[in-house]
Amino acid sequence: MPQTFHRSTNTVSKVSIFGALFLVVGSLFAIAEINRSGYVTQAGIAREQPVPFSHQHHVGGMGVDCRYCHTTATPPPRRPRRRDSRPPRPA
Ligand code: HEC
Repeated sequence: MPQTFHRSTNTVSKVSIFGALFLVVGSLFAIAEINRSGYVTQAGIAREQPVPFSHQHHVGGMGVDCRYCHTTATPPPRRPRRRDSRPPRPA
C-alpha cells in the first residue's frame, strides 16, 4: 500500500507547530513591548503646563527642596544601607 503522506510531512508538521508557537509568543512579546514604548505612553513629550510657573527663583536661586511645594513627590528608591541589613551584634 502506498504511503498517504510523504516522509517529510512529519518534519513539516513539527516545524509548523513549533513555528506557530514561537509566532504567538513572539507577537505577544512584541505587543507588550510596543505597549510599554514611548510611542504609546508618550513619555518625553513636553506638555504645555496649565500654570506658567518658573522655578528660577525658588529652586535656582533659593535652593528650596522640591518636596516643600510638591508634597506628594517621593525621592527615587534607594538600596538599603549595608549597615541596616546586618543583624544586630550580640551584647
Ligand atoms: C516654591 C515652590 C516649588 C518648588 C520648591 C518646586 N516647585 Fe515645581 N512647581 C511649582 C508650581 C507652583 C508649579 C506649577 C503647578 C502646576 O503646573 O500644577 C510647579 C510645576 C512643576 C512641574 C510641572 C511643570 C513644569 O514646569 O514642567 C514640574 C515637573 C516640577 N514643578 C518639578 C519640580 C522639581 C523637580 C522641583 C525641585 C528641583 C520643584 N518642582 C520645586 C512649585 C514649586
